[in-house]
Amino acid sequence: MDSSKGPTEWGEGRHGVGPWEGPLPEDPRFDAQLLAEGDTRNVVDAYRYWTREAVTADIDKRRHPLHVAIENFENDANIGTVVRTANAFAADTVHIVGRRRWNRRGAMVTDRYQHLMHHPDVSSLLEWAQTQELTVVAIDNTPGSVPLETVELPEKCLLLFGQEGPGITPEAAEGALMTCSIAQFGSTRSINAGVAAGIAMHAWIRQYADLSQSW
Ligand SMILES: C[S@@+](CC[C@H](N)C(=O)[O-])C[C@H]1O[C@@H](n2cnc3c(N)ncnc32)[C@H](O)[C@@H]1O
Repeated sequence: MDSSKGPTEWGEGRHGVGPWEGPLPEDPRFDAQLLAEGDTRNVVDAYRYWTREAVTADIDKRRHPLHVAIENFENDANIGTVVRTANAFAADTVHIVGRRRWNRRGAMVTDRYQHLMHHPDVSSLLEWAQTQELTVVAIDNTPGSVPLETVELPEKCLLLFGQEGPGITPEAAEGALMTCSIAQFGSTRSINAGVAAGIAMHAWIRQYADLSQSW
């Protein structure tokens, strides 16, 4: 097993392409090693054989003004899922608030192509958002929250999620323009934070994304 690889890459042989066939392309976006050995990474076909830098630079050209932040004071296991979904939706940056370390397993290596930023606490995140003229929207089903299903999200938006267990911190809720809830109809008090993040990001996508630019 190649120890330089992360756990999500160990089983990557199920998809991908073999070594490049025919004359090698000269485009600098192509990676010599991938051309020689094949490309089994979790990337869309348009990015096959491209270097990591070239993939990130290409997404950078059309990233959305959508940021997501997740509180990580207890090492939340959902952050990988949030990162993967943020990558899929070409979100600008994923912000980790609290602990710097996070469990990368669910990211399926998508963190390589996603801008990530760490903030030691909620107040640093809120200050940074203000400098970027981003409107912070907390996502939780707490008293006083407004239904995500009926609300108009801001275009320059930072969606802020809480952790399994405690949920969003009071400081985060106070610093946000509003808190939005996702309607539930069953017995559980809440849904998984990674799932909630996917639903909320997609609510923004439905409002603002140019679908003709999707894959
Ligand atoms: C598992 S929840 C925990 C807190 C929850 N408020 C409770 O009372 O159990 C963790 C995070 O997932 C998100 N979340 C889960 N269910 C949600 C819902 N129905 N509406 C909005 N956010 C939700 C929020 O960001 C929340 O902070």
